[in-house]
Amino acid sequence: MKTKKEIGLAIIGCGRIGTLRGKLANMHPSVGYIAVSDSDPVAAEKLAKALGADFWSTDSQEVMARPEVNAIDIATSEHEHTKPLLAALERGVPVLVEKPLALLENDADLILARSVALNSDLHIGYSRRYKNRYLIAKEQIMQGRLGTITGACARLYNSRSQCFAMLQRNKGATPVVDALTYYVDLMGWFLAENPVVEVFAKGQKGVIHQAGYDTEDVTWAILTCKDGAVVNLGVSYALPEKWPSVGHSARVELLGTHGTLLINDDHTDQVMQTEVGFPHVYLSDHQLQTVFLESSTPGDWALGDFLGPIADETRAWLDYVSTGKPCNLAKPADARRTLAVTLAIEESARIGKTVYLGEQ
Ligand SMILES: NC(=O)c1ccc[n+]([C@@H]2O[C@H](COP(=O)([O-])OP(=O)(O)OC[C@H]3O[C@@H](n4cnc5c(N)ncnc54)[C@H](O)[C@@H]3O)[C@@H](O)[C@H]2O)c1
Repeated sequence: MKTKKEIGLAIIGCGRIGTLRGKLANMHPSVGYIAVSDSDPVAAEKLAKALGADFWSTDSQEVMARPEVNAIDIATSEHEHTKPLLAALERGVPVLVEKPLALLENDADLILARSVALNSDLHIGYSRRYKNRYLIAKEQIMQGRLGTITGACARLYNSRSQCFAMLQRNKGATPVVDALTYYVDLMGWFLAENPVVEVFAKGQKGVIHQAGYDTEDVTWAILTCKDGAVVNLGVSYALPEKWPSVGHSARVELLGTHGTLLINDDHTDQVMQTEVGFPHVYLSDHQLQTVFLESSTPGDWALGDFLGPIADETRAWLDYVSTGKPCNLAKPADARRTLAVTLAIEESARIGKTVYLGEQ
């Protein structure tokens, strides 16, 4: 029998993911107290009302300092993680921060140094790790069914409408740093103890550049790991505006000395056509008539429950906080390395040369 600790959760950032984490936490049997904060009072009050939260404020320090709080989720926008995250680490409780750890290496270094100095209990939500097909792939690797991985590839597609929404929020939240990052993390998890040491990438500009952003339509990269394994990663967030996915369309392939694993994560196996329109999880004014069901990156609501990666990831982290059951979320050093690889992909594509990362 495991001892269960009652959780008092602070959620900092009440946008889409903070709201979803809050709704999932509200359904978790160990969560007895929820406090929420957002710099936007409308967002904070809206989520507080939706959850029947115990406390809310626009002052994140006030929320994190509540005596009932013994766990914190930082769900602010990508470029706004650092300040509230550093404050959360000082509080000395388990912390979950959404991906990517930060957009800038200086911020990520500051977070990593502080989390090491404080021996923090920090996890980063790269939620592909909790998509069933990738968890099951990890199990095959751990059982030795693929042998030594000698090569791998992953490619990720999404619509240009999703790309414009990301870049409007922050020009640094590019398809490589904000989206391909999940697959860089996934490869780091699959090829554990075998870090990427070299990155070469090429990209081509097109419609996204024409719309005023210094971002490529297509970026393809070759990564070399410490033992020589080669990984091909590619991303395009320039597919037509009404591309039927409402999240990621992906393929992931793993090639080993004893086995091969091909994962079709495009969701073309569940296609719906509807004349009344299907809402887009991130784009409020976007309706699709053709949709790949289950392509929403966080997961999907069905019959009052939420199914998919964010549901399983949130549950796993709350179970960990409550009972100590280990979870598979990324740790700070993993996330720091992932950021370095994504930034190296962008740099290599920009300068046309290989970028070397070293082994640490
Ligand atoms: N794992 C996934 O499936 C997934 C999916 C989408 C987004 N994300 C990640 O979740 C995070 C949030 O994304 P989102 O889509 O919810 O963004 P969002 O824009 O919907 O919400 C962010 C919220 O943070 C608030 N905020 C910004 N700075 C703040 C600060 N300093 N203090 C308090 N509140 C602040 C904003 O007012 C906003 O309400 C990002 O890191 C993003 O990359 C993860």
